[in-house]
Amino acid sequence: MKILMLTPEWVPYAKTGGLGDMVAALGKELSAAGHEVRAFLPYYGGIKPSADWVPWPEPVAVHLSPWQTAYCRVWTAPDARDKLQVHFLEYNVFFASEAIYGVGNTDAYRFGFQSLAALDFCLQSGWIPDVVHAHDWTAGLAPVILNTVRRHTALRHTASVFTVHNLQHQGLVPADLMRYLHLPAWLYTVDNLECYGALNMMKGALYHATQITTVSPTYAWEIQGPVHGFGLDHVLRHRAGDLTGILNGIDTRVWNPATDKLIAANYSNEKNIASGKAQNKTALQRTMQLPEETSTPVFGVVARLYEQKGLDWLADILPMLLAQARMQLVLLGNGDPWLEARFRTLARNYPRKCAVRIGFDNTLSHLVEAGSDFFLMPSRFEPCGLNQMYSMGYGTLPIVRATGGLADTVKDWSATPDDAPTGILFSDPAPGALLGAIHRALQLYFDSPDDFIRLRNNALRQDFSWTNSAGRYEKVYEVACQRVA
Ligand code: ADP
Ligand code: GLC
Repeated sequence: MKILMLTPEWVPYAKTGGLGDMVAALGKELSAAGHEVRAFLPYYGGIKPSADWVPWPEPVAVHLSPWQTAYCRVWTAPDARDKLQVHFLEYNVFFASEAIYGVGNTDAYRFGFQSLAALDFCLQSGWIPDVVHAHDWTAGLAPVILNTVRRHTALRHTASVFTVHNLQHQGLVPADLMRYLHLPAWLYTVDNLECYGALNMMKGALYHATQITTVSPTYAWEIQGPVHGFGLDHVLRHRAGDLTGILNGIDTRVWNPATDKLIAANYSNEKNIASGKAQNKTALQRTMQLPEETSTPVFGVVARLYEQKGLDWLADILPMLLAQARMQLVLLGNGDPWLEARFRTLARNYPRKCAVRIGFDNTLSHLVEAGSDFFLMPSRFEPCGLNQMYSMGYGTLPIVRATGGLADTVKDWSATPDDAPTGILFSDPAPGALLGAIHRALQLYFDSPDDFIRLRNNALRQDFSWTNSAGRYEKVYEVACQRVA
């Protein structure tokens, strides 16, 4: 199949969270399975080009309307190792900034333009995909455009698959965008794009995509209810027959303690995990200027600091925990300034127990995974979550709230040995429940060291590679292609 990945992020070029990891890893896996995969993403100001990039020989004309055309340049990075191509849309009007999101309140225009440009580039270059795989709200208008203003073109048999990575962000914007993209006025109804007097890009995709997926089976179920449906649960129930929850995999070439060059010592099995983890713990403590105590449990966090992640609950209980318990906390993250400030204050008040790095740091994120004993993800909701899988892969026990992909991937300490427990789960969305979970972790570490080692070995043995999940995407693509044949 010819598959076009329409995405705002793609590792290593652009990443703010798990979406960039997920799309690139899935793309590589599909390409390895023999499909012709191309990615199309904006050429943001922060992306560094390399010498082998090839410009498309002519300017690419994006036909916004019969009287308005924008001319862009498209660059292609041939990825010889993975046999896939990444196209970069150069258009400085929208993408000169280094920022991926939040550019002068014009994101809906920027990404709406990206969708149209991707499809017009296909038409102009004559490469007609079987499937346009659109990721999250930024690509939400691609299925709508395919069904309307580009319907009577060579793309008429192209199917669209839309993946919900996070339903909280929907692209709810003034309806003027419809005029800019010349979308027909009849689309502005409640069973198309309209939503509370505005245009909702995610909703448009949910109505127009040939097939819909999301990134874990539990999240696929959760978003059909009012708590996690963010006002679109009725649309998802309406399309329930076309909605599939497929667990993300992880790229084991990048996240693998046996080969990872960004950590202090490599390890791969039950024989060398104890010494490998101890060396990485010391390196992490040194990097974060914490006392180098091998026998003190280290709790790690790497996250975007937003409401979704439930880390405000952690900030609520930390003063008590740090005052009483023998533990260290290492946090790497950035996001809401008020939450950043709370963690900075905690680090100032407990310098021997709590170390905080505000910012985005890929190298440090690998060391946190390798050097921690436990990894905290108390998310209010978590569509899939990659960090708990990275953690298990590094023999670090995740402490997670039982929601979305976290519930699908972590098995609680209380599970039978046959079920191979790998971490600690809690349910109530409240700081007290997180506190209880951390107490259980401390008990596991100090009072049941044999269990701790057993869980760590179980975690290390988990297989979260993409092999199974990529096959499930292939099936969804096949169904979608049959629909539009
Ligand atoms: P989400 O996509 O909601 O942020 P995931 O768990 O799916 O959650 O993915 C998060 C990804 O982003 C992981 O690869 C994680 O290491 C990375 N990440 C998040 N914040 C940072 C940060 N401050 N520095 C480095 N990497 C980060
Ligand atoms: C989103 C979700 C996260 C998921 C990632 C990749 O950012 O918040 O749970 O793992 O997308 O699908």
